[in-house]
Amino acid sequence: MTRFPKDFVWGTATAAHQIEGGNVNSDFWLAENVPETIFREPSGDACDSYHRYGEDIALAAELGFNTHRFGIEWARIEPEPGVFSRAALDHYLRVLDCCHAHGLAPMVSLNHWTVPRWFAARGGFEREDSPDLFARFADQVGRHLGDGMAYVTTFNEANIQRVIGSTFHNPKAAPGLAAMKQACARACGSDRFSMVQFATSDEIEAQLVESHHRAVQALRAGPGNFELGVTISMAEVEGVGEDNQAEAFENDLYGPWLEVAKTADFVGVQTYTRYRIGPEGRLRLPPDAVRTDMGYEYRPEALEATVRFAARRIGRPIIVTEHGIASSDDTRRVALIDTALEGLERCLADGIDLRGYVHWSLLDNFEWVLGYGMRFGLVEVDRTTFARTAKPSARHLGKIARLSRDHNVDAMKG
Ligand code: FCB
Repeated sequence: MTRFPKDFVWGTATAAHQIEGGNVNSDFWLAENVPETIFREPSGDACDSYHRYGEDIALAAELGFNTHRFGIEWARIEPEPGVFSRAALDHYLRVLDCCHAHGLAPMVSLNHWTVPRWFAARGGFEREDSPDLFARFADQVGRHLGDGMAYVTTFNEANIQRVIGSTFHNPKAAPGLAAMKQACARACGSDRFSMVQFATSDEIEAQLVESHHRAVQALRAGPGNFELGVTISMAEVEGVGEDNQAEAFENDLYGPWLEVAKTADFVGVQTYTRYRIGPEGRLRLPPDAVRTDMGYEYRPEALEATVRFAARRIGRPIIVTEHGIASSDDTRRVALIDTALEGLERCLADGIDLRGYVHWSLLDNFEWVLGYGMRFGLVEVDRTTFARTAKPSARHLGKIARLSRDHNVDAMKG
């Protein structure tokens, strides 16, 4: 077996809105709380990580990780257009300091889908001047936090509109979505409300690409010596039968982002499943397919496939920035991790420049429209007391991380 390199990045991922709680100035908070919402439940206090980040970081370090992926919340940093909160920036400075104090390299997401509600109400990334505003935010972040960050990613799953459009799009959801957005617009005294997760690529992608490049420029101009990347939602795409449409499906899934990623220091690969594509497009899962609680196929081998795809098609260093499973049965998480890591070892053995594995997620958290029912965490969070309890999978992955850094591969397998 190949050993993971000594400096391999081992971590867990979180996102600001999904764990912090009380993100009241964000577009999602409003959408979750209008009567027309399509959300199963509101995020509310989430995991209260805005206050309990110290506990989270200490736990991640104690488990054996060397990296912590988290998001900084634009809605807190710029609660009104052009008004920057020193206190919010200082908060994230403390989070960075806490990571360093525990020996974790901070991996910061500039945008993990949420935006300030004023930004959504003026048209979000549909507006041509949105890259100016995103770059201004990035500039402030860079100036204040640049010195503390080890990795930065601009957009989380930059191709998310394509993923939703080409795979999960349910036309029946559209009326509900429109009503929710209208209610949000009304609440803001606006005629529009544009959210990253619920827009189409036609509406916002050109501005997202421009925003990415402008944010990179702004961050590079400031202090710090961090690696800058973008993360992409990737799935194993398997063509089935002659004349299958796999290539067309892939082109549609990634759009311009493979090219964009070629200019980044690293690409963040985020993988959860496989799609099988026949001559007519995506095939339904057979009735006996093994599924995760999210309903999609359980396919731990998909990670190896996407890392190989990213190496082939992008050719930049790769960090797996998300990979995980929704399951209330933690033994499935352990199995997923073991099978996926074997695939990563084969990638390394073949010389692929793979730098790290960051598991989604540290905590059971707010899974967007699906609320708190989906359990992706290595760590359970009591919804009333916020008490954190590490699951066996957390110890398992943490031990692999620790032992592989010590190059104690036999113990790691035992
Ligand atoms: C990814 C998202 C992350 C979480 C996981 C389950 O697509 O980036 O926030 O929702 O899926």
